[in-house]
Amino acid sequence: MTLANDVDSLLQNLGVPSDRYTQGSRAVRSPLTGETIASVQDATAGSATEAISRAQNAFLAWRTVPAPQRGELVRVLGNELRDAKTALGRLVTIEAGKILSEGQGEVQEMIDICDFAVGLSRQLYGLTIASERPNHRMMEQWHPLGPVGVITSFNFPVAVWAWNAALALVCGNPVIWKPSEKTPLTAIAVQALFERAAAKINGIPADLSTLLIGGRDVGELLVDDPRVPLVSATGSTAMGRMVGPRLARRFARSILELGGNNASIVCPSANLDLAVRAIAFAAIGTAGQRCTSLRRLFVHHSVYDAFVGRLKQVYASVRIGNPLAKDDVLVGPLIDETAFLKMQEALAEARTFGAEVFGGARIDEKQKPVAYYVTPALAEMPAQTGPVRRETFAPILYVMKYSELDKALALHNDVPQGLSSSIFSTDMHEVEKFLSVMGSDCGIANVNIGPSGAEIGGAFGGEKETGGGREAGSDAWKAYMRRVTSTINFGHDLPLAQGVRFDID
Ligand code: UN1
Repeated sequence: MTLANDVDSLLQNLGVPSDRYTQGSRAVRSPLTGETIASVQDATAGSATEAISRAQNAFLAWRTVPAPQRGELVRVLGNELRDAKTALGRLVTIEAGKILSEGQGEVQEMIDICDFAVGLSRQLYGLTIASERPNHRMMEQWHPLGPVGVITSFNFPVAVWAWNAALALVCGNPVIWKPSEKTPLTAIAVQALFERAAAKINGIPADLSTLLIGGRDVGELLVDDPRVPLVSATGSTAMGRMVGPRLARRFARSILELGGNNASIVCPSANLDLAVRAIAFAAIGTAGQRCTSLRRLFVHHSVYDAFVGRLKQVYASVRIGNPLAKDDVLVGPLIDETAFLKMQEALAEARTFGAEVFGGARIDEKQKPVAYYVTPALAEMPAQTGPVRRETFAPILYVMKYSELDKALALHNDVPQGLSSSIFSTDMHEVEKFLSVMGSDCGIANVNIGPSGAEIGGAFGGEKETGGGREAGSDAWKAYMRRVTSTINFGHDLPLAQGVRFDID
């Protein structure tokens, strides 16, 4: 069976009409083999603008539906995803290149956030605040905001939509989704599942979820449209530099989840067996193509040789290849040629800064059409210089030796990005320092696990050039609603706040 046939039967199984993926001018290719697997149609400026108008109409109806009933739609969507987990997970593998277990894991992440949002639909709490004035009461309400634009990246082609959509929907907002142009098929499949869920419940307004396939121009349309009060964008810092200021120009809200340059510190007291496994998953898993992938490693000099030696053994033995062809593969391909070239460029530059590089070569070069499989690279660096300070979306781990924790912490924080981080230690002084105000400056700081693989229950996002946005759990929902503060006078006098007097006769 060709990959295109496999895709066809998966999409049939997921209930996607074939005209949505066979007719169009945008060819979709799988990074597993480089084969073209489908063709899809881009939105035009006209169709995108109309879609936003329809979403605006959907908002007017949806915002009046009680939040727990909105949660019912998300509950049904979660069940559709449960039924579709195997097929959709496989499609994620084919379109994004991650191994089957991670493709399934991504769908599980969608299911998890749906469950979270269903509970949340009964917990959109506002505060009651003590008023300083007699016979007055103050309170907060959280109201729906409006259509939410969601721009997602190829590496989590469906989970990131779900983080945003599940929350936005229970908060009373339609979603308009611009997926990565590299992964439109999984988006088409999810849209079909959403439509199936919506059709199972009476009275759901049309156009609560809209898919806009296309390139940068389509994204810009979403970013510039005054009817879209919030855009949540995941991708590179370069993308965020375009999106953030454009949204700010029209005073729209943004949730930016941009580049990470995540580090771990391995302390002398660490459980090294555990640390090797955690670091291997975080640095090599998903072929280093997570925002949360581990890119920098600081190892205490007393355990450096032993630990880095063990890591190299893992790097030398990890199974790389097409996850559909072999069962035991742990690392799939890079997404495309550009990713491969950027990886090679970063490694070449690292060498000019004195790196000793282990791995990083291309394999399976004979394959036609072309796919980009690489062995993961471990680059021992004398200092945190050159490419170590930027995010390269590939499996490169820059390893550095440290002697004093305070110096390692200073280096840990001395990069422009601030997404995720972790420490491996059993010494509570070290652990607590890492988590303290003097410790990691990232949005996520973990202990004895790697920086990747976060659960949806926590707020997800980071500081500095990572953009400051938070998606998923905790109170991230507040960004998807507008807060109204109300003061109610139930007395017959009019005392003014701050003791101000304004007596008229
Ligand atoms: C991303 O790479 O954009 O924490 C998201 C993780 C996943 C999400 C990553 N749950 O690695």
